[in-house]
Amino acid sequence: MPRTSKTKAKEFTEISEAQIAVHWKEEEYFQPPRKFVEQANMKDPNVRKRFGPENFPDCFKEYADMLSWFEPYHTVLDTSNPPFWKWFVGGKLNASYNCVDRHLEQYRNKAAIIFVSESEDEPPIALTYQELHVQVNEMAALLRDFCGLKAGDRVTLHLPMTLELPITMLACARIGVIHSVVFGGFSGQACGARIQDSGSHILISMDAYWRGGKLIDHKANADIAVQTAKETGQPVDKVLVWQRYPGKSSSPTAMVKGRDFIVNEVLKNYHGKRVDPVPMDADAPLFLMYSSGSTGKPKGCQHRTGGYLAYVTGTSKYIQDIHPTDTYWCMADIGWITGHSYIVYGPLALAATSVVYEGVPTHPDAGRPWRIAERLGVNIFHTSPTAIRGLRKLGPEEPRKYNYHFKHMTTVGEPIEPEAWRWYYHEVGKGEAVIVDTWWQTENGGFLCSTVPALDPMKPGSAGPGVPGIYPIIYDENGDEVPAGSGRAGNICIRNPWPGIMQTIWGEDDRFVNTYYARYCKNRRSKDWRDWPYLAGDGAMKAAEGYFRILGRIDDVINVAGHRLGTKEIESACLTVTEVAEAAVVPVADEVKGRMPEIYIALKPGHKNTPDVVNRVTRATETIIGKFARPKHVYVVPDMPKTRSGKIMRRILASISNRREVGDVTTLANPTVVEEIREIVQGKEAIVTTEAVPEDIAGFGQNE
Ligand code: WTA
Repeated sequence: MPRTSKTKAKEFTEISEAQIAVHWKEEEYFQPPRKFVEQANMKDPNVRKRFGPENFPDCFKEYADMLSWFEPYHTVLDTSNPPFWKWFVGGKLNASYNCVDRHLEQYRNKAAIIFVSESEDEPPIALTYQELHVQVNEMAALLRDFCGLKAGDRVTLHLPMTLELPITMLACARIGVIHSVVFGGFSGQACGARIQDSGSHILISMDAYWRGGKLIDHKANADIAVQTAKETGQPVDKVLVWQRYPGKSSSPTAMVKGRDFIVNEVLKNYHGKRVDPVPMDADAPLFLMYSSGSTGKPKGCQHRTGGYLAYVTGTSKYIQDIHPTDTYWCMADIGWITGHSYIVYGPLALAATSVVYEGVPTHPDAGRPWRIAERLGVNIFHTSPTAIRGLRKLGPEEPRKYNYHFKHMTTVGEPIEPEAWRWYYHEVGKGEAVIVDTWWQTENGGFLCSTVPALDPMKPGSAGPGVPGIYPIIYDENGDEVPAGSGRAGNICIRNPWPGIMQTIWGEDDRFVNTYYARYCKNRRSKDWRDWPYLAGDGAMKAAEGYFRILGRIDDVINVAGHRLGTKEIESACLTVTEVAEAAVVPVADEVKGRMPEIYIALKPGHKNTPDVVNRVTRATETIIGKFARPKHVYVVPDMPKTRSGKIMRRILASISNRREVGDVTTLANPTVVEEIREIVQGKEAIVTTEAVPEDIAGFGQNE
C-alpha cells in the first residue's frame, strides 16, 4: 500500500486534537434580522450577566416563575448530595396542569397541537387546548382506573408521531406516572429491553402508522416487546393499542385476549371523566428517556418534574422565541429528547401551537415540509442537519416555490456543515429567519449552547456560547482548561448544575456518577458544585469570541442522522448471528446521514463468507435495534487488527472505511491483516483521500 514517510504516519496515529482542528477556517457572522429582533422575547443585552455565576443559582427562579405551582419552593438548589442536585425544593406542581389546564381561560379554543398525517390526502387535525384537556383527562382516568397505575409507576409508550403520543404522555404526567417513551422506529426487541429496565407492567402502542407511503404494522412490535420483556423477567399485564383509524383495525396482527385492549374502545367508559392533576414534588421523576452510551446497555435518563419543566419552558421562550401566537413546528420525533422538550413540554407550557407530523419529511417529495409550513402558517421551524442535507439534496429549490415565512429556525442533533447551514439560511429561511444551532443531549433536558437569537450574531457551524445560566468549559486530558482561541480542542464540560440536568440513570446511581462526573471531579467529598463539572462526552473547541464548535462524540457512540447509537449495542447485535466470531463497528461519513455505521465481522473457523451471513448480520441490527441502525456496509474479514493484548483497533478500521491513511501498524499483533482488509474494502488500488479529516472520525477509537 502507498505509504507516506514514517514521520507523517506517526503524526497521524498520534494526531493531537490541535491538528484535528486546524482544518477549519473561520466563518463569517450573520446578524439577526431586524424584524425578528423587534418582536423577540429576550432582548436584554445583559441576560448572560443576569444568569451569570454571581447570580447563580437564583437566576433560575426566572424560569421557575414561568410555571404555575401548587406549592411554592423554598430552596432553589440543594447541593447536599453531589452530584444528585435538587432543584426548587419544597415546590409542588403538575406538568399536565402547566401544559394544558392553565391555558384554558385564555386560549381554550386555540389549537394546542396540529396533527399532519403523512398521507397528504388527509387534512390536518387541530386539537384545541379544550379538546386536549378533555382527552388527557379521559386517558388519565383510564390509566388510573383501568390499569391501576399510580404516581411513581412506570409505563412504556411505543408510539408513532400521532396525537395519541402527547395525549398519553400528558395523561401520565397528570397522575404522576413516569412515562418511558421508546422511539417508534426501535424494534420490538429494543422496546422490550427498555420495558424490562424500567419495570413497566403496561405497554401502550398503536396498531399501525404511515411511514414512507406504507402503513406499517406496529402491533407486531408490541408482541415482540412483551415477549422480550417476559424472557428477561418483566411481565407485561396489559397492552393498550390505539387504533390509527379509530373503529377500524389497520394491523394484521391479532389482539391477545385478556392482555391487549383497544384504547379508543376502552376510553368510551371514561367519557367526560375529569381527573384532578396530582401535585408532584418538584423532584418527582417526570419521565425516563433511554440513551446510548459507551457500554452496551442504554441508560434510562431520569428527568424530574420541576427543574426539567422550568428549564424547557425558559429555553423555549428565550432561545426558541416561542410566543402563544406562534405556530411552531419541530420535525424531530417525540420519541427522542428533542421531541419531549421542544414539541411537547416547552411549547405547550407556553401555550403555543405545536405541529406533530407523522411521516418522512421527503414524502411524497422534497416540497412536503414547505407545503405544510405554507398551509399551517408555521413561523418557527426546528430540524436536524440530516433533514437539512436530505431536503437540500432532493429539492434544493423547493422552498422558494412555497409562500411561507419563518421568523426563526433551529438545527440540533449533529454538527452542521457551514455549507448546509448557508442553504438553510438563504433557501429555507429566505434570508428572513434567525437560526439557532442548539447543542445539548438527552441527559441535559434542554439546550446548553446556542446563540440568544436576538442578541448574538450567528456563525455557521458553531453552536455559540453557553445559553444563559450555563457555563461551559473545555478541559484537556489532564484537567487543565483549554483556553478560548487556542485553536485546540478538548472535552467540553459544564461547570455548574442547571435545572434541566437529569437526576440519575434509572436504578444506576453509580453509573451516573462515573459516566458524567468522575472524570473531572476535583474532590469526591466536596459539597460545592464547583468541584463537580459535568462531562458531556463531546469534543469541542472554543473560539476567541467564546463560541463553541462541537466536533462530535469522544466515546464509542456513532451519531447516525442525529440518533445516538452505541457501537457496543450494534456489535452485540452482530454477535447474535451464530457464525460471527468477532464484530467491530466504526462510523463512516455519509452525505445525507452525516455518519453511518460500518460493520466488520470475522467468522468462526469453518464458516464461509456468504451473502446470507451478511444479510443476517444486517437483519440482526434491524431487529435488535431498529432499521435506523442499518449499516452502510458489512465486510467479512479474515481477522480483526489487534494489539498484542488482543484489543480490536477500531481506529484502523475507521481509517480504512473512510479512505484515510491508516498510519503506523507495526505495533499490531497481526500487521499484515491490515492490507488484506484494506483490499477487501477498497480494492487492489489503495484509495486515500486528502480531504480534511472529519473530526469525530479522526478521533474515533483514539483512546483504545
Ligand atoms: C450531538 C440530542 C453538534 C452531540 C439533543 C451530543 C450536536 C449528541 C448538536 C446528543 C449540535 C447534539 N451540534 N452536535 N447542535 N446537538 N449534538 O442525546 O454529539 O440524542 O452529545 O440529544 O448529539 O444526542 P442526543
